[in-house]
Amino acid sequence: MSIGVIVLAAGKGTRMRTDTAKVLHTAAGRTLLGWVMEAAGSLNPDEIVVVVGHRADEVALALPEAVVAVVQEPQNGTGHATEVGLSGFTRSHEIVVVIPGDMPLVRPGSLVRLVAQHTQTDAGATVLTAEFEHPEGYGRILREGEAVAAIVEERDATREQRTITEVNTSVYAFDGALIDDALGRIGEDNDQGERYLTDVIGVLVQDGRSVGAVMVDPEEGIGVNSQAQLAEAAGHLRSRINAQLLDSGVWMLDPARVYIDAGVSVAPGTEIYPDTYITGDSVIGTGVTIGPNVQMHHSLIGDGTTVINAVLCEAIVGANASIGPYAYLRPGAVLKDGAKAGTYVEIKNSEVGARSKVPHLSYIGDATIGEDTNIGAATVTVNHDGFKKHRTTIGDRVRIGSDTMLVAPVTVADDAFTGAGSVITQDVPEGSLAVERGSQTIIAGYSEKRRRRVGKESD
Ligand code: UD1
Ligand code: CA
Repeated sequence: MSIGVIVLAAGKGTRMRTDTAKVLHTAAGRTLLGWVMEAAGSLNPDEIVVVVGHRADEVALALPEAVVAVVQEPQNGTGHATEVGLSGFTRSHEIVVVIPGDMPLVRPGSLVRLVAQHTQTDAGATVLTAEFEHPEGYGRILREGEAVAAIVEERDATREQRTITEVNTSVYAFDGALIDDALGRIGEDNDQGERYLTDVIGVLVQDGRSVGAVMVDPEEGIGVNSQAQLAEAAGHLRSRINAQLLDSGVWMLDPARVYIDAGVSVAPGTEIYPDTYITGDSVIGTGVTIGPNVQMHHSLIGDGTTVINAVLCEAIVGANASIGPYAYLRPGAVLKDGAKAGTYVEIKNSEVGARSKVPHLSYIGDATIGEDTNIGAATVTVNHDGFKKHRTTIGDRVRIGSDTMLVAPVTVADDAFTGAGSVITQDVPEGSLAVERGSQTIIAGYSEKRRRRVGKESD
């Protein structure tokens, strides 16, 4: 049985009130179209065509290379879009499945069920439907007895028809031999003056063909037309991602307050606390503790590491490291096994060697730090001279004193020390101590002398 899939993605998405093409809005780290394409792929179709129109170039660019995009111009309704989609096939298919690009929650299994039922009956079409408590805005399924008789759009429905709670999800399996001809016979006599794919159902029924229905969970039937529906859909997608992680052995104190994107991988045995956002292609090992209050984007975290109250973007952290509370790892931050970026520490484009620590109040930018080194509190790598960035190189087993300014380019060699409060502008040789500050002056009895000089009233 040959299957052709048409994904409808040409619409403007006026109700989103953004400049972005509707199907390119993201939910749980993937575009709406991306979710739909993944589900469509589960049918193993012989061909898949995506109908693009509004912002066609951007939508087409977001598609995998093997997928054919055909342009619908102007966008004259879902029926017209399907016609354009058919023109993109290189050959005819026994079954044509149509999926709108704005329903990210449809499960692969439901599409498989739709096609299975369709092939087992002699139906001209089989519609994926859902029971909605609030069906407002959706096309309603009109039945005669068990059979589907027609679909009526809400704006064209009578008051009585609007009380129907079974809605059209807009996913269909059509008999490939009938769809083209039926599409040729739909009009545009409706409130929007568009050619509706929904009207094909009525045409097939009038031709004496039966139309079947497969019902799915209401959640799966959500079509995203507005920001509110996008938020709702994203919530469901996140719940699915979290449920899968919980199933696999990840612990979450409160899954409703954990936001994980589709591309993220978390190993079992890791614990996630609330208000944690893990996005992009982040990968997290086992035995990791993350959160509360962590934002992590495109970052890698090794086994046994702890990350609390931190922001990480394009950072790589090894095993048994410690990040935060209140740390900011920016792109290019690489922390090796057992390293630490502690409280109020910002690290950018720098490597911190194994077991080296940056515990408090420091800025490390464009630096390479060796192993077993300690960076004293409030140390700054002064990497920018007003024109260019320069690197700081710090060796193994180095002790950088508190409040050291390391004016780059500068190198502190292995086993060296810097005195607290020093401004280091010259290289520090191996094993030596560099101190750069005025010597301390003691004025004995100062307090008493001052009291005599200025008198009591100034106390
Ligand atoms: C459509 C159905 C409605 C169903 C609902 C489910 C029709 C007429 N209505 O309504 O019965 O309950 O989906 O979510 O089919 N598109 C094009 N070209 C166009 C118009 C639309 O490619 O000319 C694409 C859109 O990009 C979108 C999909 O088709 O991905 C559905 O269009 P949309 O305008 O969202 O239809 P709804 O009003 O939601
Ligand atoms: Ca829609």
